Amino acid sequence: MEQARQKRIVLGITGGIAAYKAAELARLLVKQGIEVQVAMTEAACHFITPATMQALTGRPVLVNQWDAADNGMAHIDSSRAADAIVIAPATADFIAKLAHGQADDLLSTLCLARNCALLVAPAMNKQMWGNPATQRNIEQLERDGVALLGPASGVQACGEEGMGRMLEAEQLAQDILAVFQPKLLSGVKVLLTAGPTYEAIDAVRGITNRSSGKMGYALAQAALELGAEVVLISGPTALNKPHGAQVVNVSSAAEMFEAVKQQVADAGIFIGVAAVADYRVAQASEQKIKKGDGSLTLELVPNPDILSYVAGLPKPPFCVGFAAESEQLHEHARAKRQAKRIPLLAANLAQAAIGTDDNELALFDDTGEHVLPRADKLTLARQLMLHVLKLYQPGAKQ
Ligand code: CTP
Repeated sequence: MEQARQKRIVLGITGGIAAYKAAELARLLVKQGIEVQVAMTEAACHFITPATMQALTGRPVLVNQWDAADNGMAHIDSSRAADAIVIAPATADFIAKLAHGQADDLLSTLCLARNCALLVAPAMNKQMWGNPATQRNIEQLERDGVALLGPASGVQACGEEGMGRMLEAEQLAQDILAVFQPKLLSGVKVLLTAGPTYEAIDAVRGITNRSSGKMGYALAQAALELGAEVVLISGPTALNKPHGAQVVNVSSAAEMFEAVKQQVADAGIFIGVAAVADYRVAQASEQKIKKGDGSLTLELVPNPDILSYVAGLPKPPFCVGFAAESEQLHEHARAKRQAKRIPLLAANLAQAAIGTDDNELALFDDTGEHVLPRADKLTLARQLMLHVLKLYQPGAKQ
């Protein structure tokens, strides 16, 4: 990732056992040509020494805001020069401070005085992570535009297993580098559909698809990283809104179709990731249907095919479709790309992807098939967006 050269990151380390992973993270970032200025809290120095971090980065470590060696302005100078501040690991205590805008040591002051992106990699025991106070603070950080990296689930230093483990250094380095992606989609509107749709049967029941929305949300995130204006039309999901995206929440396929029609005119790229229900109930009952003695027959009528509609517009955006198949992936995917007349289709086996955090994709375009090997959905989303960039010609009739 050449574009990351000459960038400057302040790597903030707080007092948790995962601090040892910050040494590897610093090494990986330096290897990518990034200038890394480490700032540590006093507590962090109990877990890893400033000497280690200085040796890895080649720069003296900032710890004390009253250090006579600088001009007393380390917090302003460091944040002024930084392209991003990364806190890894971020303890529950430090996250609480950030959420409340406290600034009682060098690192928290530096965060408050910043004029750049702030990325936070939480690391704590599962009880601390699950505590409502921590969850409130995390929500506050997300509202404030702070990017969260992780945490992950797994075996913890305390011997328990659960959520709260810091992401591995390799993963963190990748996420940090993504912030420095060149803004190749700046000025381009990317319209996406994601998640399932819900087709009412009556007041309390409905037909839906198994879809978590994770792939669509990851693609929205990847498009945002490339500087796109992102509009995400989402069926019901339990996911957080990608920061910076405009999210239109819908329920049924008909609502999704209406929202797409309203948004599509100035879109440069359309990505249909939603698992749209192909059928809806002809006459949904306004009241709850009462149980009878015999069988019940529901009449289903087809829903509009949103992707085909967009691809068939006189001046369509560049269209990307998704296909989740349970068998004969390649045959179905090729046929689907042709039937929907779209330049790019991403296919996966449904059983390998639904609800999971990772996936593998086969991309089908005019030149053939391109395999994206198994990886987490955000990594795949970034790779898919890079493939879109290769094919997308702004202004051209796609
Ligand atoms: N799609 C859509 N509107 C629909 C159905 C599907 O926009 N009513 C989009 C999906 O978002 C996806 C692609 O079309 O990008 C493929 O959807 P899929 O359901 O797999 O294809 P279908 O054409 O419905 O074929 P089948 O269900 O028979 O596999």
